[in-house]
Amino acid sequence: YHIDWDEAAAEKSGYKHFMIKEIYEEPEAIESALVGRVTLDGPVLHELKEFDLENVEKIKLVACGTSYHAALVFKYFVEKYANIDIEVDVASEFRYRNIYVDDKTLVVAISQSGETADTLESVRIVKKKGAKVVAISNVVGSTITRESDVTVYMNAGPEIGVAATKTYVNQLVVLYLLGMEILKKKGIWNEDLENDFEFLKRSPNLFRKLLEDFKIDELASYYKNYNHFMYIGRGINHPTALEGALKLKEISYINATAYPAGELKHGPIALLDPKFPVFAIAPQGYLYEKIKSNIEESKARKARIIAITNEGNEDLLKIVDDIIYVPKAPDDMYPLIMSPVIQMFAYLIADMRGYDPDKPRNLAKSVTVE
Ligand code: G6P
Repeated sequence: YHIDWDEAAAEKSGYKHFMIKEIYEEPEAIESALVGRVTLDGPVLHELKEFDLENVEKIKLVACGTSYHAALVFKYFVEKYANIDIEVDVASEFRYRNIYVDDKTLVVAISQSGETADTLESVRIVKKKGAKVVAISNVVGSTITRESDVTVYMNAGPEIGVAATKTYVNQLVVLYLLGMEILKKKGIWNEDLENDFEFLKRSPNLFRKLLEDFKIDELASYYKNYNHFMYIGRGINHPTALEGALKLKEISYINATAYPAGELKHGPIALLDPKFPVFAIAPQGYLYEKIKSNIEESKARKARIIAITNEGNEDLLKIVDDIIYVPKAPDDMYPLIMSPVIQMFAYLIADMRGYDPDKPRNLAKSVTVE
């Protein structure tokens, strides 16, 4: 008796690639990030109980790639509620700058693998200057967790696909919790934050439903024929544009670029024409009217527009060519709920163009050299 089986296929539990499997794991991944960190009194990160968060006045976040985009979301989120000076930089720049830290500065280093050379070196440099460092990592016992003062684990489970998917989602979850914890310790808690927290708790089920319901194969099949993409977003949705463009370029090799939409007029709008579509991150929240007028400007250049927005937004239907809906969310939470959409869009296009999204050319899952 003989059974044919393929070890690699078995690990993918029926999915064609790890990347798509890992996108579908996002609901459980979020649940694991929330376990033990959700109480009746709000969010609690027990790891940080020894930390003097009340007195933090400056936060410096350092990371690379997708982790850097998660850091940007944190900045927009926290600075909206508190007068904290927040700075975000990519580690390859951070490590060569003169970073000033004092006893009111908190450094947050984000690395899924915990082994990225530039991020590790950044941690070493600021530690020598006396900074307190919180690491956010997915890999237990990785170098960054040993060299930082404390680690908040993202608990996403192992990620095999080179392009980060569920770990990006979990970075966002952990960073929202960290932001909430800092704000709470500073005595800042209001209805918006309460709504954000409630949304976080509901997000595993919202993700489940979204992943079951949304079908963008046809859209992907249409857009796979373009060689350029302009992703635009504003405010807290700008990092989603950056991450959407990164996903597309890293696995489908399409020239995707991202801009804060208000910058279009300072140069990039010159690129737009019918062969250069715009992917707009446009939920109806803060700055919606602003991005809407940027979409109209792009349309005037005859660019095709695909937008993601919230359910119930019919306003955009008149302007854009294609639309993808996600559930309505509090303003702060759109980066989270829109993540699977931009990931899936890139995944489908890469696969349809005949590339293996799990093993993009020239890229490594963790970059342990400078
Ligand atoms: C590599 C990976 C990216 C990742 C980046 C940072 O470039 O291909 O997906 O975002 O490293 O990795 P880290 O493990 O430090 O988060």
